[in-house]
Amino acid sequence: MTIVSKDISKAAKILIQEDLVAIPTETVYGLAGNIYSEKAIKAIFEMKQRPFFNPLIVHIKSVEQLDELAKEIPEKARLLADKFWPGPLTMVLKKQESVPDLVTAGKDSVAIRIPNHPTTLALLEALDFPLAAPSANPFGAISPTNALHVAEYFSEKLQLVLDGGDCQNGIESTIIGFENEIPVLYRLGSISVEDVEEVIGKIQIKNKKENAPDAPGMLSRHYAPATTTFLESDVAQFIKGFPDKKIGLLLFKERIENTGVMHQEILSEKGDLKEATSHLYAAMHRLDKMDLDMIVAERFPDFELGKSINDRLERATKK
Ligand code: TXA
Ligand code: MG
Repeated sequence: MTIVSKDISKAAKILIQEDLVAIPTETVYGLAGNIYSEKAIKAIFEMKQRPFFNPLIVHIKSVEQLDELAKEIPEKARLLADKFWPGPLTMVLKKQESVPDLVTAGKDSVAIRIPNHPTTLALLEALDFPLAAPSANPFGAISPTNALHVAEYFSEKLQLVLDGGDCQNGIESTIIGFENEIPVLYRLGSISVEDVEEVIGKIQIKNKKENAPDAPGMLSRHYAPATTTFLESDVAQFIKGFPDKKIGLLLFKERIENTGVMHQEILSEKGDLKEATSHLYAAMHRLDKMDLDMIVAERFPDFELGKSINDRLERATKK
């Protein structure tokens, strides 16, 4: 059975022994191991059932640690680091020789971020190595936003979840890389495109798998509930076609009255996209446990974090 605990020194001890610990971040929980331990990195791929061609994000404690892992860092990357770290921005940069190939899936680049969570920053401070950490879910499943989600996923295999409460942002970091110094977005996430562009100007968007062969993690079906899920602009109209089904709704701000549906999740009654984002995965987890025939999600306004939410919902509905 997995232990859920706030004990940072216990977590450090396990990581030093080259075993794995799930860690809290402001985005989602990560399944963490020492980047320099082949045993730990292999265990991450094994536990998640993640294909080896899908590289991991490296979590560091300070900007000073950046040069240990990356080289030829573009000026715009420095600006983004200044503005958003610690925080939910991952940057893909040219890697130093010292970064193991297993972590980067053999690529010559490495994905790096400084997470903004006091518990994990304290943990990193207690360690003399960075932590590789993909989201702490089996490959393709909904990412965990609290310690219990993680414990349920890995109860047989994982020793410890370091408990840092509910994740404040609630979806993964935004991933930005550079192709010939031109900034490219590989994954929509917790920081909106608008906020990134305010710092470094126009960026290219390669979030979709079709045009982003460089980001192997962008598989189109991902973040998916086991329950069949639909994404609709007019939910009230859509569900009229299924009067006999057990339906759960995932809605932005308002309940739909007079329906026979079993359950409705409202992500932000005041219509705040940031609040809605922070509630998204927990609501998907709850709906997925209700033994429904289908989940019907409402399409969000297509700007700022609404874009990131729509991206995750689209991936949740792909077959
Ligand atoms: O918010 C987050 O980023 C969370 C927390 C735990 O930090 N982590 C996370 O990791 O979402 P994961 O493994 O679920 O997603 C990592 C993504 C994948 O899509 C992967 O393909 C991409 O990062 N990635 C990693 N290294 C890369 C590289 N060198 N080039 C391009 N994409 C890379
Ligand atoms: Mg993931």
